[in-house]
Amino acid sequence: MFGRSISAYICYAALVRLGHVSAVAVPRQDQDADAASVISKAQNIVNPLSPNQSGTPPDLTVLGNYYITQKSPTPLLRATGILTKALTFLYGPSIAGGPAYPTGILGLVKVTADLLAIQLDLTPETAQALVDNTDAILGIAKYDGLQTVEDYTKLYDGEWMNTLPKGPDLGVLTNYTDDLLFSMERLSNSPYQVRRLNPNSDSLNFQIDDTIAKNITGSTLQQLFSAGRLFYSDYRDQGSLTPNLLRYSAACDAYFYVDINGDKFLPLAIRTNVGSNLIYTPADTANDWLLAKMMYNVNDFWFAQWNHLASTHEVVQIVYSAAIRTISEEHPVQALLNRLMSEVFAIQPLAQTVLFDPGAAVDLVFSYSGTSAQAYTDKKYKNDGSGRFQANYFKTELQNRGLLNPATGPTLKHFPFYEDASTIHDAISTFMTAFVGSYYSSDSVVAIDGELQAWAKECNGVLAACKDFPAAISSKAALVDILTHIAHLASTSHHTINTNELLSISSTLPFHPPALYKPLPSAKGVNNVAEYLPPFTQVLTQFTIGALFARPDFVGTNRSLIHMFDVQTFLSKTNDQTRAANGVFMSAMKSFSSQVSSRRFDGEGLSQGMPFVWQALNPNVMPFSITT
Ligand SMILES: *[C@@H]1O[C@H](CO)[C@@H](O)[C@H](O)[C@H]1NC(C)=O
Ligand SMILES: *[C@@H]1O[C@H](CO)[C@@H](O)[C@H](O)[C@H]1NC(C)=O
Ligand SMILES: *[C@@H]1O[C@H](CO)[C@@H](O)[C@H](O)[C@H]1NC(C)=O
Ligand SMILES: *[C@@H]1O[C@H](CO)[C@@H](O)[C@H](O)[C@H]1NC(C)=O
Ligand SMILES: [Fe+2]
Repeated sequence: MFGRSISAYICYAALVRLGHVSAVAVPRQDQDADAASVISKAQNIVNPLSPNQSGTPPDLTVLGNYYITQKSPTPLLRATGILTKALTFLYGPSIAGGPAYPTGILGLVKVTADLLAIQLDLTPETAQALVDNTDAILGIAKYDGLQTVEDYTKLYDGEWMNTLPKGPDLGVLTNYTDDLLFSMERLSNSPYQVRRLNPNSDSLNFQIDDTIAKNITGSTLQQLFSAGRLFYSDYRDQGSLTPNLLRYSAACDAYFYVDINGDKFLPLAIRTNVGSNLIYTPADTANDWLLAKMMYNVNDFWFAQWNHLASTHEVVQIVYSAAIRTISEEHPVQALLNRLMSEVFAIQPLAQTVLFDPGAAVDLVFSYSGTSAQAYTDKKYKNDGSGRFQANYFKTELQNRGLLNPATGPTLKHFPFYEDASTIHDAISTFMTAFVGSYYSSDSVVAIDGELQAWAKECNGVLAACKDFPAAISSKAALVDILTHIAHLASTSHHTINTNELLSISSTLPFHPPALYKPLPSAKGVNNVAEYLPPFTQVLTQFTIGALFARPDFVGTNRSLIHMFDVQTFLSKTNDQTRAANGVFMSAMKSFSSQVSSRRFDGEGLSQGMPFVWQALNPNVMPFSITT
């Protein structure tokens, strides 16, 4: 603290001496008002629908060991316990869109507990964000008025050190004009949109002149398509959203391709779908092409953030709610879910009050309104497949987009998201296999576990209305898959997009603005791309919002992924096999953590085939739970 205030003082003195701050509007207070308002909302997250609870919630304490349904020593007591939970944990209206949100005495007790827990997490985070925000304002002289694109890299010069202690991912401030950085982000920190076009079932949504395509790739668009080397991303559905005042965005769709050697995954073209509907390619001027990639990034960040709410938070929240109402607290599966679902009910109120409400974070820094963000998320969950359970199993979903085991075309040589996520997914699956195997001697024992079957039925009922949850749980493997997927959604799947990723890569400037600040050009030939980037006060608000979702304090603690199953209250009531499986998981994750933390650029200036060093899925850094 002492060191911090001295350095702030020196900065401030330097600022006063230099007196060269006129190029950028300086907020009058030492923190900007928009960031302060977001922080204040984060410090006061409430359940917007909650009447104050009254009545006595059921006691959920488990005194003895865990037992599957058939083996409970006190079956009558156990059945009464479940009934009491079902009568007091109810489905209420959704908050921030998506599925039903808990209500009832027990529902509200759980919501309140999760909101308290997230407030404890946010206390240091908001304090650090305020210090960083103030320091960034004091450092204003060194950004040179943000007049060029390059000036935006100076925003990180000794700044945001509390919320982003290691700075942005190595390479993102130096190599952002490299096409490979842009394209490989689709296979690492934003991997949920791009898909390979299948020549047998897809068609081309727009054309590229043969001479241009051949010059860039050596092949025509049609040849790339027929060879299974063409990939496509589609954000045209953002074109109908309500824009915020004086902020602008395209609604891009884009082609990517695998080069003739099968070595590199690269961008080919970006179409804007608004105004003059320009189609940009790497053959355009450096400025035009850079602006096109930024336009894509605006759409991509929008998709990645709101889709993640639908595809991770909302899915596990409702599946867990159904479990609470149907499975005893004495059941090992429920005990495991209680661990994995730490703080799960805190996020929809956070999304509503900090992000979506009028005047909140989305209205402040994104291109479209908070109301649009909520509607977009809700549509992703309900209609666009993001809420589906089995269809989004890790490998199934990647296969369906032709990114894994493609029917036509070359295998992706580098696929960092898959490489890292599959290591963790395999380790989780190994743990779940041991855990399930320790309680169920055969598939038929699973199939006659009444609570598990009641859970599946509840998920598929009209109230929970989970999408695509198995109709029954009839084998050990099916149960392993379900539990692995829940753990995957709550950890790897989520932290790839959110948590520390916002500040460290996916919303870093200058390359990833959340909105453009000038109407899109009607013709090519842009002079200064910086004119489209956020002004300084907007940058401050953007970074402060990002900081609320970072969890630097979890690094190396029992909140990290290494400790996913490592909690005595759970392990002590399980069995030797489960405890041993936890040991295996922890050592696998520790060794993977050393591997990830030792990543550096190779002789070609690449890491995992990318011009930036991606370390988001370090198990000693990422949380084990879906707490942001
Ligand atoms: C609910 O409780 C809070 C704090 O305990 C209080 O400020 C609020 O007025 C109460 N609301 C109602 C409707 O009683
Ligand atoms: C091919 O691309 C290069 C470099 O971008 C350019 O100089 C050349 O004019 C292009 N040729 C055609 C036929 O477009
Ligand atoms: C995690 O560690 C903290 C501090 O070391 C401790 O207070 C807390 O009880 C631990 N939590 C769990 C769930 O093990
Ligand atoms: C990326 O940037 C780093 C410096 O941050 C540099 O060492 C590396 O060579 C660059 N990679 C490429 C491919 O330019
Ligand atoms: Fe999240």
